[in-house]
Amino acid sequence: MIVIINGSPNKKSKTMSVTNKLLEHTSESITTINTYDVNVQSCDDCQYCNYKIGCSKKDDMNDICEKLYEADTLILSAPIYFGGLSDKIMSIINRFQRFYSQKYILKEGSIPHFKNLILISTQSSDKTRMFNGAKETLNILDILFKPTYLGQILIPSSDQTPLLSEEDIQNINVIKKKMK
Ligand SMILES: Cc1cc2nc3c(=O)[nH]c(=O)nc-3n(C[C@H](O)[C@H](O)[C@H](O)COP(=O)(O)O)c2cc1C
Repeated sequence: MIVIINGSPNKKSKTMSVTNKLLEHTSESITTINTYDVNVQSCDDCQYCNYKIGCSKKDDMNDICEKLYEADTLILSAPIYFGGLSDKIMSIINRFQRFYSQKYILKEGSIPHFKNLILISTQSSDKTRMFNGAKETLNILDILFKPTYLGQILIPSSDQTPLLSEEDIQNINVIKKKMK
């Protein structure tokens, strides 16, 4: 199963259009978590997960975590907001702290394992350094989840048409093959 965490509030999300391009023709089942439709509280560093597996908060994150355990592929699809991934997706990613503590502090049980972990992001600026925060987040998630394949599709100048250059499409096709 492919799980997409969609961090865009836009019904016609440019980032999701890139995600859909990557997934066109896939035969795998897809579950999309729209971050603007779910109730996920911010991690407030309560330290619960340093002592017990799980999280003290009772909200939609429990269902999301169940889906993560079922997923072969996790796709993070989100626009850049002020140099980082949009806040709603970051709220979910910050709640992955439970997995960090489970793995490195409690050293108990197993955390989700993904065959593929893919970051897809767009931003309006042509200055690609604005992706640096998102890339660092992906790097931390790589260390945490140790996916078999890590991929990223980062599209700047998202106000331009067409959104994807020939080079972008080639890169997407390369990633598509590597995900198999
Ligand atoms: C609150 C907010 C902050 C943004 N910050 C940035 C930014 O720091 N750098 C940038 O290049 N674009 C920024 N943008 C533009 C979006 O990243 C861009 O329009 C993106 O392609 C939207 O993707 P979506 O259609 O998938 O939501 C910002 C947009 C909003 C609404």
